[in-house]
Amino acid sequence: MTPQTIRKAVIPAAGFGTRFLPATKATPKEMLPLVDKPLIQYGVEEAVAAGCTDIIIVTGRGKTTMEDHFDRSPELEAALGARGKTELLQLVQSIASLARISYVRQPDALGLGHAVLMAKELVGQEPFAVILPDDIVDAQPGCLAQMVAAFAETQATILGTEWVEGDAISLYGCLDCTPHPTNPRLVAVNNLVEKPRPQEAPSQNAIIGRYILTPRIFAMIEQLTPGTGGELQLTDALRALLKYEQIYGFHYQGQRYDAGDKLGFLKATVDFALQHDAVGPAFRNWLRTQKF
Ligand code: UTP
Repeated sequence: MTPQTIRKAVIPAAGFGTRFLPATKATPKEMLPLVDKPLIQYGVEEAVAAGCTDIIIVTGRGKTTMEDHFDRSPELEAALGARGKTELLQLVQSIASLARISYVRQPDALGLGHAVLMAKELVGQEPFAVILPDDIVDAQPGCLAQMVAAFAETQATILGTEWVEGDAISLYGCLDCTPHPTNPRLVAVNNLVEKPRPQEAPSQNAIIGRYILTPRIFAMIEQLTPGTGGELQLTDALRALLKYEQIYGFHYQGQRYDAGDKLGFLKATVDFALQHDAVGPAFRNWLRTQKF
């Protein structure tokens, strides 16, 4: 069989972002900027860097600024051109040509599994990536590119995985897994548990917001019985998928930030500001003058 490649990435962005209220009352969490770039653009760029040509953003009511962000902006472009701001003009134009981006609505925020299911028709019958835009991974090559390279080897579902310390495991989906015989970055998944109590966690391997999924996941989500509040969870669908297919966890190299959470967002902001070409050196100098 011809090896399959990952051309499509789904970016669920229809959640309420309650951890960031009131900022997210009328502004999508995914549009909050790390220094000068919205979270969702980091996700799109990571997908493109991994070779994806088609991005499917799952959106919802009150989230149209995301569509505007990735579209042309003729008035702004004309104004920048007239003022001779060529670099800014190129920057603005480049966003609109990052990838082929489609949008699908999730009418109600019924969980991550449900959000992924909304992309079923646009994905079709091929393996695809999922990027949660509030999980920012600073890595070179990017986290998804590392996973796509592993997929070339496994041709199976791969979950981005990270080792977390102590009780923190109860904030994540957790893997019961065994090491891969030849690739030290891969683990073979035996079972998955969503947010286990620390004493019941089968390991400290947490699932992060990066996935490569086979199209059978859609049938697994469709067969789920809705949980609390009618939600369909991706972890439950993955557990069902295990009956049919092998699933791997992949230990990526890089630094992840939970930018959907205030503390994680602040850490990411500081680290990205320090690395920023224009403001990094001045920000570092200013930080040095501060007393903590
Ligand atoms: P989160 O659980 O981090 O986002 O989902 P949330 O629900 O918006 O945030 P809080 O917990 O209330 O603060 C991870 C990603 O999945 C999307 C979110 O928009 C976010 O990008 N998501 C979540 C959906 O698209 N639909 C859903 O039903 C749930």
